[in-house]
Amino acid sequence: MNLSQPSSARCRILATRWLGIRNLPIGIALFTISLAISGCEREATPSAPAGLLASSEAQQAGAAIFAANCAICHGARADGNGQRREGMNPLPANLTAPPWSETASAGQTFLVIRKGVPRTAMPRWSMFSDQQIWQLVAYITSLGKRT
Ligand code: HEC
Repeated sequence: MNLSQPSSARCRILATRWLGIRNLPIGIALFTISLAISGCEREATPSAPAGLLASSEAQQAGAAIFAANCAICHGARADGNGQRREGMNPLPANLTAPPWSETASAGQTFLVIRKGVPRTAMPRWSMFSDQQIWQLVAYITSLGKRT
């Protein structure tokens, strides 16, 4: 896991800087050039600590964090029906549907929670530790299997 290393922070800054500009083709060109100059590598998708996703303690801890922070939008059952969803475009994701319930996408789910989804209501959760985010992922990936 190297999410907090300076090189990946720098890569993120480059992406925001160049991919956010109005002329997208030029943005992509400048981004590619700046990546080459900076030596940034594409950020690797992290993998979950061994055994964590299947651990019922981790799933329960994740469920508690979810109830306190995520249910307002994603709903108490994580099906996307939170009280706050009214008027959101896109609507909060239904996390009980694949691919969120598949273990294979656990690393991507981790990154989505850590970084949020730009230009949507999905915030980035920078205050959570890696462990707390993996607990959330354990909860989310367990959902499809329970139903
Ligand atoms: C303020 C509302 C809001 C809160 C709070 C929120 N989300 Fe989201 N979330 C969204 C929206 C809106 C989307 C849909 C984004 C999209 O469709 O691209 C989303 C999408 C997601 C996705 C799927 C992303 C994708 O690419 O489809 C995951 C996973 C997720 N949220 C997890 C969480 C977790 C875990 C929490 C709590 C720590 C949380 N969300 C809190 C609004 C919220």
